[in-house]
Amino acid sequence: MSHRVAVAASILTADFGNLYRAVRKLERAGVDRLHLDVMDGHFVPNMTFGPDVVSAFRRLTQLPLDVHLMISEPSRFVGRFIEAGSDSLTFHVETAESPEIKRATLHEIAAARRQPGLAVSPATPIGAVEPYLDLLSIIMVMTVEPGFGGQRFMPEPAAKIADAKSMLAGQPGGQVHVDGGVSADTAGLVMAYGVDVCVVGSALFQRGRDAAREVAAIKSASSP
Ligand code: DX5
Ligand code: ZN
Repeated sequence: MSHRVAVAASILTADFGNLYRAVRKLERAGVDRLHLDVMDGHFVPNMTFGPDVVSAFRRLTQLPLDVHLMISEPSRFVGRFIEAGSDSLTFHVETAESPEIKRATLHEIAAARRQPGLAVSPATPIGAVEPYLDLLSIIMVMTVEPGFGGQRFMPEPAAKIADAKSMLAGQPGGQVHVDGGVSADTAGLVMAYGVDVCVVGSALFQRGRDAAREVAAIKSASSP
């Protein structure tokens, strides 16, 4: 059975000197959402930006903003990302914060009427999100190690998409996102597992590759 997938564009490999142009290009290419990768140099070995840059994107576009927090203490910062205009906030189930704090953080996001999500790194079993299912709008299955754009897609963790999809079956509007190395070449596989949203970064910013064509190819991908 085939269904339509949405494309969330990761701006991680865009030209940060001209984000205005990057956003216009992505809007023209027909992406459905923007995916903003926040890294703290602690949870992952790389740094990007914080809430001020998210609010700059908020002023630049009407597209929904999916914020992917790769930070050690999401509980301390979600409030500021809510204020910045995030539409969804996804943090990692692997953070060292206690299950109680994780639940409270998901509650805080939902209470602000934004979509709460948990992301799962490649080595983490999908069962790790089980205790939070009642609070989740998004499960984000990572198909690269978090930290850098432009890495190669890992097929094994992609199989967790199917589990995540059935886990969210009881959650109205629950969506499974896949993040890492997704392009027109890998979209068919993740589609077959039932993914709802493909996060796509470098495939949209490669020289000589047409972003609109890539988006259309991903959306029309069929199972292999
Ligand atoms: C990796 C990020 C991803 C990634 C997407 O830590 O979460 O969003 O950069 O970019 P590509 O498609 O290049 O893997
Ligand atoms: Zn991401």
